[in-house]
Amino acid sequence: MHIVKPVAKIPHYTSANLQIMKNNVLITGFMGVGKSRTARALAAATGLFAVDTDDLIESLAHCSVSAIFAKQGEAAFRCLEQDVADWLASSVDKTIVSTGGGFFMVRNLMDLGHVFYLHADFDAIHQRLLAQPGGQHIAKRPLFQDLDQARKRYHDRLPHYRQKAHHIIETKGRESSAIALHIKDILLDQQLLAQP
Ligand code: S3P
Repeated sequence: MHIVKPVAKIPHYTSANLQIMKNNVLITGFMGVGKSRTARALAAATGLFAVDTDDLIESLAHCSVSAIFAKQGEAAFRCLEQDVADWLASSVDKTIVSTGGGFFMVRNLMDLGHVFYLHADFDAIHQRLLAQPGGQHIAKRPLFQDLDQARKRYHDRLPHYRQKAHHIIETKGRESSAIALHIKDILLDQQLLAQP
């Protein structure tokens, strides 16, 4: 007798199936704070799409972020970030956007959507990166190679991250999934998310 195995159930990620009323949701914060993970968890909790500015830059430039820094330098990378911001402004709506740690410097950040700054202390971020399996998390970040410079950059940026945000989210001791649910609650409270 031929036994047909049941087909594995495809996970249903869009159970909430919510719709954002206006504009995008942007996740900002320092390198390694967990922006991409939070964006993915928020996508899973809402059914919205999520894109990542570093991924968009890599597809635009046909090379990795590290290679752009190595071959063309930081200024060229910042120009690409502005190109991505301009493209988001003209073409992307109702989407979750996780950003690179320096993306907050684009001219039009707060016009792109609701900005959520994820905050953690520098040492907590450093420990988080060290604890990630595979050891690639520091290696793939050109601006985290020198610890003292990274710490200085963090402190220089801190007031700007805070200033260029609609919401500041404390991440201490919380998983990305819990942070995502907190962001979702804020969006629901402010009637920025609703059933379609
Ligand atoms: C940068 C952060 C990186 C990446 C690039 C520059 C920054 O993204 O965009 O290396 O200036 O802080 P992550 O925040 O995802 O590491």
